[in-house]
Amino acid sequence: MSRITFSVIKADIGGFVGHSSVHPDLLKTAEKYLGEQGKDLLIDFKVAHVGDDINLIMTHKKGVDCEEVHKLAWETFLECTRLAREYKLYGAGQDLLSDSFSGNIKGMGPGVAEMEFEERPSEPVIVFMADKTEPGAWNLPLYKMFADPFNTIGLIIDPKMHDGFIFEVMDTVENKLMKFSCPEEIYDLLVFLGAFNKYAVKAVYNKKGEPAAASSTQRMNLMAGRYVGKDDPVMIVRCQNGFPAVGEALEPFANPHLVSGWMRGSHFGPLMPVSLEDATPTRFDGPPRVVALGFQLSNGKLIGPQDFFADKGFDRARQKALEIADYMRSHGPFEPHRLPLDEMEYTTLPQVIEKFSKKNI
Ligand code: F6R
Ligand code: MG
Ligand code: MG
Repeated sequence: MSRITFSVIKADIGGFVGHSSVHPDLLKTAEKYLGEQGKDLLIDFKVAHVGDDINLIMTHKKGVDCEEVHKLAWETFLECTRLAREYKLYGAGQDLLSDSFSGNIKGMGPGVAEMEFEERPSEPVIVFMADKTEPGAWNLPLYKMFADPFNTIGLIIDPKMHDGFIFEVMDTVENKLMKFSCPEEIYDLLVFLGAFNKYAVKAVYNKKGEPAAASSTQRMNLMAGRYVGKDDPVMIVRCQNGFPAVGEALEPFANPHLVSGWMRGSHFGPLMPVSLEDATPTRFDGPPRVVALGFQLSNGKLIGPQDFFADKGFDRARQKALEIADYMRSHGPFEPHRLPLDEMEYTTLPQVIEKFSKKNI
C-alpha cells in the first residue's frame, strides 16, 4: 500500500521575450533549487514550461495542500524571480502576489493541481499544461474524456468505466463547489460547463471516490482584485484500466476548441496542441497552446516524460487551429473574437465612456 501525492504547481515569474517563453536559465535554476532543497521532501520532480509559465511537477508522500511542499514551490519561484529581475525579464515575479509565504500557495498567485492516490501496479499519468488561456479551457476536454462515449468508448465497453464518473465543478466567481454524477446528471452538468468563463471542473472521481483528474482553478484576476497575471491552467489525468486510455485522454485535443485568453487575455482563439519544443506562443501572443506530458509512476518516481502532442497524429489539429486562428483574427477588435466587455482582462471602456460623456454635453 503506497499512497502518492502528485502535485503540479505553476507560475509565470517573468517572460522571455515578452510573454512568449521562459528563459532556459530559469528552468535550470528551478531544477537546481528543487533538487537541493526538495531532496528530503520529494520523491521525484520535473521542471517544464509552456509559454511563459514554469511548471513544477512533483511527487511526494505528504498529501495535498501540504505546507512544506507549497513552501518549497514558492521558494523555488522566488529563487527564479531573483534571476528574472537580474535579466530584467518581462513581468518578473508577476504571479507572486504576496511578499511572504502564508502556509498554502493557493490564493498567492501560482496555479495548483494536486491529487493523492494509491499507486496501481502500473500508473500512467498525463500532465496537461496550457498557456494564454484559463481553467475553463479544460471543461470541454474533461467532459469528452469522462462523459462522452463518442470520445471515450471505454465508457460503453469497459466494465470498469461503465458506471461513469463524478465531476466536481467550481464556481470561480463565488468560490463554491458543486458535484454532478454522470451519466445521470450530464444535462445538468453541461448547463455549467458550457459557461466556461465562470465554471471550471476542479476534479473528477470514479464512483468509488478515487481521483481521476484534478485541475488548477485559481482565477488570479479575481483573487487579487485587479489584473496582475494570467491564470494559465494545469491538469493531471490518470489513465488506463478503469480510467480513460491514454489515447482517449488525448483525443479531445484533436479538435482545437475555442478558449478565452490569447492576446491580453481578451480574445477567443483555438487551443492548439503542441510539443514542448513548440510551446512558445508568438502570433498575436498565441494562439493558446496545450502540452501533454505522459509519465509512468514507479513508486512515485516519474518515468518520462513522453511529449504526446509531438506526435504526427496531431498535425491536422494544428493545421485546423491555424486556420481557425486566421478566421478569428480577421474580426480584429470585434466580438466574438474579442471577448465580451465584462470578460476582458484589459479594458479602456470606463475612460472612454467618461471622455465621451463629457464631450457630448
Ligand atoms: C496574455 C498575455 C499577453 C499580454 C500582452 C500585453 O495572457 O500574457 O498577451 O497580455 O502581451 O502585455 P502587457 O500589458 O504586459 O504589455
Ligand atoms: Mg507573462
Ligand atoms: Mg502564461
